[in-house]
Amino acid sequence: MTNQYKTLGEFIIEHQDSFKYSSGELSRLLNGIRLAAKVVNHEVNKAGLVDIIGEAGDTNIQGENQQKLDVLANEKFIQTLKKREIVCGIASEEEDDFISINSFDNNHQNKYVVLIDPLDGSSNIDVNVSVGTIFSIYRRVTPVGTPVQLEDFLQPGINQIAAGYIVYGTSTMLVYTTGDGVNGFTLNPALGTFYLSHPNMSFPETGKIYSVNEGNYVHFPQGVKNYIKYCQQEEGDRPYTSRYIGSLVSDFHRNMIKGGIYMYPKSSVASEGKLRLLYECNPMAFIAEQANGLASDGKKRIMEIEPTELHQRVPFFCGSRKMVEKAEEFMK
Ligand code: AHG
Ligand code: MN
Ligand code: MN
Repeated sequence: MTNQYKTLGEFIIEHQDSFKYSSGELSRLLNGIRLAAKVVNHEVNKAGLVDIIGEAGDTNIQGENQQKLDVLANEKFIQTLKKREIVCGIASEEEDDFISINSFDNNHQNKYVVLIDPLDGSSNIDVNVSVGTIFSIYRRVTPVGTPVQLEDFLQPGINQIAAGYIVYGTSTMLVYTTGDGVNGFTLNPALGTFYLSHPNMSFPETGKIYSVNEGNYVHFPQGVKNYIKYCQQEEGDRPYTSRYIGSLVSDFHRNMIKGGIYMYPKSSVASEGKLRLLYECNPMAFIAEQANGLASDGKKRIMEIEPTELHQRVPFFCGSRKMVEKAEEFMK
C-alpha cells in the first residue's frame, strides 16, 4: 500500500512489533490518543463560533460550551485515556497533582503513565492561530498492582517510550515517535481519518530560522543575547529570519520541516525559563532527537535531566543540530 493511503490506525498496527514491551498495549494507548485528538480537533475548530451561535457547542445546563478550551481539552484527553484500561496515571499542565487511575477496579494493573500539555499555545485560541497538544508516555517504575506514585512521573526523558504532538493548524496533524523515527499524519476532516503524510520526518542539519520571544531580550543572559546578534549578523548564510508563533508545537513543527532553532531561555525575570520539562520539553526533545535534531537546556541534553517536580521549568533550545550546537557555544 502506498503511503498516500496508509491510515494512522494501520501504521500503528504495522509497527507495533518493533516495540519491546507488549505491543498490543502501546497500540491501544496510541489509539486512545488518536481518538482524543479528533475530539479536541472538533472543539478547536468551532472555538470562534461558541459566542456567536449557541448550538455550536454541546449546550447543557452547566454551559459546558463556554468552558475554556484548555480545560476542555484536558477533560477530553483524561476521559478518553481513563477508559482504555492501560494507563495507571496522568499528569497534566491543567492539574496540580497527578491523577491516579484504577479503571474498572482492576487492582492497578495498568502499566503506563501519560504526561500531557492538553492545549499548548492557548493565548492563540482567541485569535485563530495554531495551537497544539503535547504528550509523553512512560512505563511505570513502581510495581504493577499498587497505586501509581510521583516517581512514576519524575523519570528522565530518556525513559520515554513514546511522545508526540498534535498541531491544530491549517490542517490538523499528529506527529509521534516510539523511538524508531518520527512520522506525521494529517487528518482528513471529511472522513475523520489520519493519513500518513510525512513519513520519516527529519530536521535539516542547519536552517535559517530562529524562534524566540525577542520582547524578553533585555532579560536574557549575555550568551543568549550574543547568539541572537549572531543570528542577525550579515555573514555567510546569515542573517537568519525570525519566526515566532507563540505555540511551541507550531514553532517546532515549522522548524522541523524548514530547519531552525526554537529558544525559550532563562532570564532575569524567569530563572528557569517558562516551558515545563515533563510535558513540553521532554516529549519535544524525544521527537527532535529522533528526527536528527537536538534539545538542550543550554548546557546539557534535556532528556538526561533528573526531574524533581511535576511542573518543573527548564530553559529550552531545540531544533536543527548545528544551530543548537552553535547556541550552546555562545552560552558556555
Ligand atoms: P501553554 O499555552 O501550554 O501555557 O504554553 C505556551 C508556551 C509555548 O507554547 C509558547 O512557545 C510559549 O509558552 C510562549 O510564551 P511567551 O508568550 O512568553 O513567548
Ligand atoms: Mn504549553
Ligand atoms: Mn497548555
